Amino acid sequence: MRIFESLALRYDGRRLLVLDQTALPFREDWLEGNDPAAMVGHIQRLSVRGAPLIGVAAACSLACHAMAGSGQAELAAAWSALRAARPTAVNLMWAMDRLRPLLPRPEALIAEAQSILDEDVRLCEGMAEHGAALVQDGEGLITHCNTGGLATVGIGTALGVIRRAHEQGKRIHVYVDETRPLLQGGRLTTWELQRLGIPCTLITDSMAALILRDGRAQRALVGSDRVAANGDFANKVGTYGLAVQARHHGAAFHPVAPFSTVDLACPDGAAIPIEERAPEEVRGAQGRPWAPEVPVWNPSFDVTPVAYVTSLVLDRAVLTCQQLQAGNLATLLG
Ligand code: MRU
Repeated sequence: MRIFESLALRYDGRRLLVLDQTALPFREDWLEGNDPAAMVGHIQRLSVRGAPLIGVAAACSLACHAMAGSGQAELAAAWSALRAARPTAVNLMWAMDRLRPLLPRPEALIAEAQSILDEDVRLCEGMAEHGAALVQDGEGLITHCNTGGLATVGIGTALGVIRRAHEQGKRIHVYVDETRPLLQGGRLTTWELQRLGIPCTLITDSMAALILRDGRAQRALVGSDRVAANGDFANKVGTYGLAVQARHHGAAFHPVAPFSTVDLACPDGAAIPIEERAPEEVRGAQGRPWAPEVPVWNPSFDVTPVAYVTSLVLDRAVLTCQQLQAGNLATLLG
């Protein structure tokens, strides 16, 4: 594997390192991920997160395991553990399934992990170009969760679109949903936008409806962990609510995703597995409880029906709601 460095993933020729996203924005700690068992832990704790990055990081960890001379059985066990680390982000299964037939050929597996990484950078560029063309000068944009360089090895999905629109000189202002319960918007998206010099305002998720009602944001751009064949899609919990609010107030609503996030085997959103996480994430914040031990429901993702989608921005095309409903995703990618 070649030496590389992205915002949240590095390989220095010896160590695979991931930026601990649970410590951002106040600390930039790097964790070692050569050992697949350690990488599974990083993924499950959300030190490594964002659908495309999870897939790339898992692939690179398996490649490191192969470079360390691990045998067939060890590689196969690591492959299974990595593939099962998180259930909703289909990019993880997509990347692992590309490596599966190469388990008996370590050199080919390492090369394929490298091409998964290189491809992610190119896919981000494609989404940025297609998506930025939709953004108008002077618009207010709203986004949810974190979909930037921290969630991919390129410039991101929805945040990559925002970044490209800014680079094109469009005067935009970004409203960032804090994204309860783990605050990926408040901790991570603000950190990225500040580094990029893109004007932004942090809001709590429950303020989004007011921003849309008052016409301060005309367009919502979000990522996705899995897009079903009919255009329904799963993303960080709260996305569905944002879509309903955008529709009510006449704002455009766009999921932005690479083809590796599309799962044609899921006919619709009901078939997408939704991760449920620990109650402590809702009863407290950053390890500090603030609620009594009442029962909690903590789905990490929700499904937005295709009817709320203005258009889906992919790396190679933009498909309107009507095109998605007509089955054009399968035609494009099948
Ligand atoms: O639980 P997370 O932080 O991994 O959730 C991430 C998201 O929901 C992103 O929107 C999605 O993975 C797309 S990111 C490019």
